[in-house]
Amino acid sequence: MAIALIILGAGMGTRMNSDLPKVLHHIAGAPMLVHAMRSGAALDPARTVVVAGHGADAVGKAAAAYDPDTLTALQAEQLGTAHAVAQARAALEGFDGDALVLYGDTPFISDETLAAMAAARLTHDVVVLGFEAADPGRYGRLIIENDQLDRIVEYKDATEAERAVTLCNSGVVAADAATLFDLIDAVENDNAAGEYYLTDIVGIARTRGLSATVVACDEAETLGINSRAELAQAEKLFQAKARLEAQEDGVTMVAPETVFFAYDTVVGRDTLIEPNVVFGPGVTVETGATIRAFSHLEGCHVSRGAVVGPYARLRPGAELAENVKVGNFVEVKNAQIAEGAKVNHLSYIGDASIGKSSNIGAGTITCNYDGVFKHKTTIGADAFIGSNTMLVAPVTIGDAAMTGSGSVITRDVPKGDLAVGRAKQENKPGFAVRLFEKLKARKAKGS
Ligand code: UD1
Ligand code: CA
Repeated sequence: MAIALIILGAGMGTRMNSDLPKVLHHIAGAPMLVHAMRSGAALDPARTVVVAGHGADAVGKAAAAYDPDTLTALQAEQLGTAHAVAQARAALEGFDGDALVLYGDTPFISDETLAAMAAARLTHDVVVLGFEAADPGRYGRLIIENDQLDRIVEYKDATEAERAVTLCNSGVVAADAATLFDLIDAVENDNAAGEYYLTDIVGIARTRGLSATVVACDEAETLGINSRAELAQAEKLFQAKARLEAQEDGVTMVAPETVFFAYDTVVGRDTLIEPNVVFGPGVTVETGATIRAFSHLEGCHVSRGAVVGPYARLRPGAELAENVKVGNFVEVKNAQIAEGAKVNHLSYIGDASIGKSSNIGAGTITCNYDGVFKHKTTIGADAFIGSNTMLVAPVTIGDAAMTGSGSVITRDVPKGDLAVGRAKQENKPGFAVRLFEKLKARKAKGS
């Protein structure tokens, strides 16, 4: 059956106390909205509609950045969750199949749970995702009668007996799209909040003779984020899960609680990650690599057997081939480093390519930026770049070429040549001793 996702994210998120729309706050390097879209993607949706209101432009852009086919529906005024879903109607014109309502601030619904909801849809018209709440607080209550979900009662509107129910509404709902919009048309706002409640569709469905049921999931999955504290809690949950998954995938972490993954980090089997390593988005580390302590990686690719750090920074476009070494206080950006090459100490390698087995001496800098444009440095295979070489790009160093330590290299160095670009050294015999004595004598006279 074709599936359409309707992801609600129009709310202001007052409790975040932020200029940024709530659903754009990040968890593990991606907006929480993207996490919700990723969980929905497990159903291979034919269409995805994000309902945006506060900061709609930015929300629409973030959704499209993750999936360019995403449609955005505007809910200019937030009149309630049913009203929000109704705004997706135009975007689902001509769509025939099931609609699943998800929430931009509820990022962790699992694939298994969504599959269970899809299965329950085979036997019921409306399927609601619920959970047994440890503290039911202000959640909507799911009222079961005669083995059917009879209605959902919002806390504000519930009787004492209904408030005693601990089976709560996550908000996630699945139904045939046409049925869903029909039911929503019948929703009114005569309740304590004066809002159009999506939850009312269950009672309406039942009075129309349609069936409804609950699929229950773990409370952690339905964790909704309303405050910075809950955002931090969500990050913590994400990291705990990502660390366990990495361990199951054969990754060794000396202190897993100090390693932070991004939503899309991929780490190969038998890779070792030392303490205090942070992964930003877009990192792939292959099998048998070593990421040493206090390194920060984003948008990069580390091949088999490479060693990174301690204290290394790999920025977007860093491509490390097999058995490359990038050592302490080295920053690499938009640079391809070929097999077995070494950049071991205190360097900046940006907009560059380094050939096989080359050795880049301590303190080497690719001077890639002239204040306006970025320029490329090309270094061949088996080159030896002396310590503290400034490579003023654009510049090319040939295979097996060398640069003298402390050189400022502004012209290409042909294959096999040695380039020395620094002032010639001059020694003045005995000068140091004479100068020192003169200065001491001056001090003794008190001048
Ligand atoms: C809702 C449910 C409640 C459930 C709870 C789970 C209703 C009426 N109640 O309550 O049963 O237990 O979620 O967290 O649905 N939104 C819009 N436009 C609107 C209103 C809301 O996009 O006009 C979005 C919000 O941005 C938010 C989500 O819908 O992401 C839920 O809205 P919220 O007002 O937080 O609903 P709750 O009162 O928490
Ligand atoms: Ca809420």
